[in-house]
Amino acid sequence: MTTPLTGEQSRSILPAARLRGEPRLPGDKSISHRALLLAALAEGRSLVGGAGDGRDVRATAGIVAALGASVERVREDGLNVDYRVTSPGVDGLREPEGVLDCRNSGTSLRLCSGVLAGLPFFCVLDGDASLRSRPVARIIEPLRSMGAALYARRSDSLPPLVVIGRSRLRAIDYTTRVPSAQVKSAILLAGLHAEGQTTVREAVATRDHTERMLRSRGIEVRREPAESSGGGSVAWTLEGGARLRPLDERVPVDPSAAAFWLVAGAIHPDAELTLRGVGVNPTRRAAIDLLVRMGARIQETPLGDAPAGDVGEPLADLTVRSSDLASIDLGPEEVAAAIDEIPILCLAATQARGKTTIRGAGELRNKESDRIAGIAAGLTALGARVAVDGDDIAITGPTPLVGAATETFDDHRLAMTFAVAGLIARGTTTIDRAESAAVSYPSFFLELERLRA
Ligand code: S3P
Repeated sequence: MTTPLTGEQSRSILPAARLRGEPRLPGDKSISHRALLLAALAEGRSLVGGAGDGRDVRATAGIVAALGASVERVREDGLNVDYRVTSPGVDGLREPEGVLDCRNSGTSLRLCSGVLAGLPFFCVLDGDASLRSRPVARIIEPLRSMGAALYARRSDSLPPLVVIGRSRLRAIDYTTRVPSAQVKSAILLAGLHAEGQTTVREAVATRDHTERMLRSRGIEVRREPAESSGGGSVAWTLEGGARLRPLDERVPVDPSAAAFWLVAGAIHPDAELTLRGVGVNPTRRAAIDLLVRMGARIQETPLGDAPAGDVGEPLADLTVRSSDLASIDLGPEEVAAAIDEIPILCLAATQARGKTTIRGAGELRNKESDRIAGIAAGLTALGARVAVDGDDIAITGPTPLVGAATETFDDHRLAMTFAVAGLIARGTTTIDRAESAAVSYPSFFLELERLRA
């Protein structure tokens, strides 16, 4: 049972006797942001079906509206929303009158910066306390070298961020310093307004939704090495000046949200959960593969690529059953591939036989909270054996968890991780500021109730 503890902010979770069913899942957060922004750039009417209705995606919808596109919510169910976006096109967008509020969303901040770099407006991007502590130098540097003017607090390191864009930018050939799909996407989005070819090189392939979605809107985006070779370093190139066409599409289910239930099902002794229509893009499915490597009993039924007119992402139904897990070792490449799932994988590691090591996880400190510190503190409070050494994490298991008070630091992924832990912990687990789950998964606690019923 899940009940409010102190006011609306905290939740207490008691262990579940069994877990069964099919949780409703949010539309992919990364794809939802991109679909809204690309709709703003494409003259005409776009439909974004099944966008995640978390606070992050709402922030991007608000920014798109502030730029002069009409954004209508045509259907909503408390978890997902269908948007109709009607845009006057790049030349018809207008300078926003106020500050653009990205709230908790780093993706809104970084992706919007790329879009705004190519529009001749003065814009200020701001957000909540967490967002104001997240680095922006990584986007200021490449976007400046393309000819946009960007300024930020603390010597251009922290939001609020000012972007003074221009309609014609310079193309660049840029190698990202940290694996970041947000930085890559910001540069490619700015590259749409650059003269010549913009190339972004990354040492580790990050999620490629922007590239796929630009292609489905008529933009030629080249990949080297060619599509068939997976993993490793990759370079993406596009030619500036082409216009995007509007598109009707359905957003796949978010694999990062699905990961919470995959772990819940694997670590709970009496569980069988089915997750329908999950996006299993090769650049997003690392957590599924890592869990299988740990011994999770996950059955995957491919649904083929989304139908024509959709975003062209591979989908699958996933069923997970109670599993005996064993430890694994993750290096920096695997951390980058599963960057948003590391907190919930850490919980899985507490129930795995042996010592799981996660090396080179420093980027986790730059997320909605310092996730290395947050996950170590929360899991340790629950009785897990967690050691942090610099940017490396080691977790030794299996350890029976015991309910305790956990702190989320207002981070949605920590809140959901500790809630899943509460399903197997003896006694009561409390989660402070649990409502932060609504950043990416508004019905998370409702689903949790249903699965244990
Ligand atoms: C995202 C990229 C990742 C991820 C974030 C969403 C995206 O961030 O952590 O939740 O949609 O491009 P970085 O690119 O900064 O690693």
